[in-house]
Amino acid sequence: MARKALVIDDDRNILTTLLIHLESLGFETCSASTGAEGIRLFMEEKPQVVFLDLKLPDQDGLSVLEALAAAEIKSYIVVITAYATIDTAVRAIKMGAFDYLPKPFTPVQVSHMVDMIDKICAMEAEIASLKGIVREGGLITRNHQMHKIVAMARQVADSNASVFLSGESGTGKGLLARLIHDLSPRAVNPFVTVNCAMLQENLLESDLFGHVKGAFTGALRDKIGKLELAAAGTVFLDEVSEMSTTIQAKFLHFLQYREFERLGDPKTIQVDVRMIAATNRDLEEQVAAGLFRKDLYFRLNVVEIHVPSLRERPDDIELLASHFLKHFARLNRKPAMSLDVEALQLLQAYSWPGNVRELVNVIERGTILARYPYIITPIDLPAHIANYLPRQSADADMKTLAEMEKNHINQVLSQSSSIDEAAKVLGIDPATLWRKRKRLQLD
Ligand SMILES: Nc1ncnc2c1ncn2[C@@H]1O[C@H](COP(=O)(O)OP(=O)(O)OP(=O)(O)O)[C@@H](O)[C@H]1O
Ligand SMILES: [Mg+2]
Repeated sequence: MARKALVIDDDRNILTTLLIHLESLGFETCSASTGAEGIRLFMEEKPQVVFLDLKLPDQDGLSVLEALAAAEIKSYIVVITAYATIDTAVRAIKMGAFDYLPKPFTPVQVSHMVDMIDKICAMEAEIASLKGIVREGGLITRNHQMHKIVAMARQVADSNASVFLSGESGTGKGLLARLIHDLSPRAVNPFVTVNCAMLQENLLESDLFGHVKGAFTGALRDKIGKLELAAAGTVFLDEVSEMSTTIQAKFLHFLQYREFERLGDPKTIQVDVRMIAATNRDLEEQVAAGLFRKDLYFRLNVVEIHVPSLRERPDDIELLASHFLKHFARLNRKPAMSLDVEALQLLQAYSWPGNVRELVNVIERGTILARYPYIITPIDLPAHIANYLPRQSADADMKTLAEMEKNHINQVLSQSSSIDEAAKVLGIDPATLWRKRKRLQLD
């Protein structure tokens, strides 16, 4: 895949020279001559490298930089500036620019800049792989079991097989469904989510299959269903366990014949869609209880991916926490905060019934309520997490059993009038106490 570079500059000469040079370095390029157009292209093209002139006709280059830096797009932004404005260049770097190029610059300087970016990129990738960190789409993890899941997602993405995602609420099933679609050849086509927990049965039915005007009371005009909207793409059936038995039957028919009818219209429609279904319930249990059709379950569950709960992968807690700290810093355009040691220990000890979603909320709350600048401490955590474990003093944490024994014997001895009395309190015979006293060098 070719790397993309975006150049935002209103100076025709600079723009052309830079584009030609970047193309000779193997970049696919795009360009804009205003800030607004630049921001739009950035969001659309997600370039790895951006050259941004700080003087633009429509807005201040720094405000453009602010917008680019706030987006969740990993990109190296190089600002272009005249000699006279080094101050601004320094400010730009503080705001997240990678480096600056003073005007006028030569092609060699541009090559050097690109080289440097390549080296940093390679280094970051190496550090991440040393730490076992995998990033794929919006998903980040360093857990071994999750690595396997990402590998499996890559593998199934190529096929058309129906995928069934199981796992507790908030573990990242929605994210994984999206990832499978994005990695698949269908990525250029739509990804459409259908929430099967939709309250009214006929609403879900028309949401899926569509309807024609007058099909039921309230059907005021024709409506295209999500199966059709997703043509050549992916349908994500979220909370599939909540599908009513009537819709289950209709849906099974669709999976068998890949055709359906809009409500109120006898004409059959054929579509090619890939199915991904998810549930946080035990669907096998629902099948056993007669609440979910077995044949439908088997059709949906060609490949099952079970996403482990956060408490089963505590090694992800620190990584995810710092990932979300950066995320909220970017969102609020503030410097990233960090967790102090004790706050991190509390997060690691907690059971996370709401999984990653709960962690996101706790981190967001922490960044808002933090009592100190830049650091989140236990008082910034919700009480049920801060009090999750009886907090031991740092002192007691560090002691070995031998040290505790020594302290205890010492204390009892100092409160007793004789060895015999102390031995009685300790529940050992006086000779043993003598020996221990000598060995532990107590007087
Ligand atoms: N490994 C991860 N890396 C980054 N973000 C994650 C990860 N896992 C989950 N998230 C985030 O946590 C939140 C919850 O994830 P998601 O909605 O995918 O969970 P879910 O399993 O679909 O939950 P539910 O069953 O309640 O629908 C989302 O904001 C998602 O982006
Ligand atoms: Mg979900």
